[in-house]
Amino acid sequence: MKYAPLLISATLVLSATISLHTAQAQDGANLFGTKGCIACHGVDAKSPINDNIPKLAGQNKGYLVQQITDIGSGARNNGQTSLMKAIAANLNEAEIEALATHLSGLPR
Ligand code: HEC
Repeated sequence: MKYAPLLISATLVLSATISLHTAQAQDGANLFGTKGCIACHGVDAKSPINDNIPKLAGQNKGYLVQQITDIGSGARNNGQTSLMKAIAANLNEAEIEALATHLSGLPR
């Protein structure tokens, strides 16, 4: 049984990682509503209110983090980004991470 403590700590690390992921996805789901994202992108993140607004569900997480960050900072700037710039600029890194975790986990 000399490996038992190792096994237990490995299990703890694993379950902590899984619950962190779940907590982030849950936070992201809440933020998607409370920050007003659903008004344009739709509750399911794939029913945008018009054809100029992208579907987000199932998109790659890293890409989502980058785009939300760039829209907020102004690095990504075109006629349409102005619509959500103010909202994106007010998100902190943890919120962006949580939103991206949630969105990337949704079915396309
Ligand atoms: C007022 C409408 C509106 C709201 C509210 C809004 N967005 Fe957007 N969003 C847009 C538009 C329009 C674009 C496309 C921008 C462009 O043309 O470059 C966009 C683009 C994006 C993109 C880039 C997608 C891609 O494929 O490149 C992401 C990610 C995104 N929004 C996430 C969010 C999140 C998260 C929220 C809430 C915090 C949010 N949006 C709130 C209108 C909105």
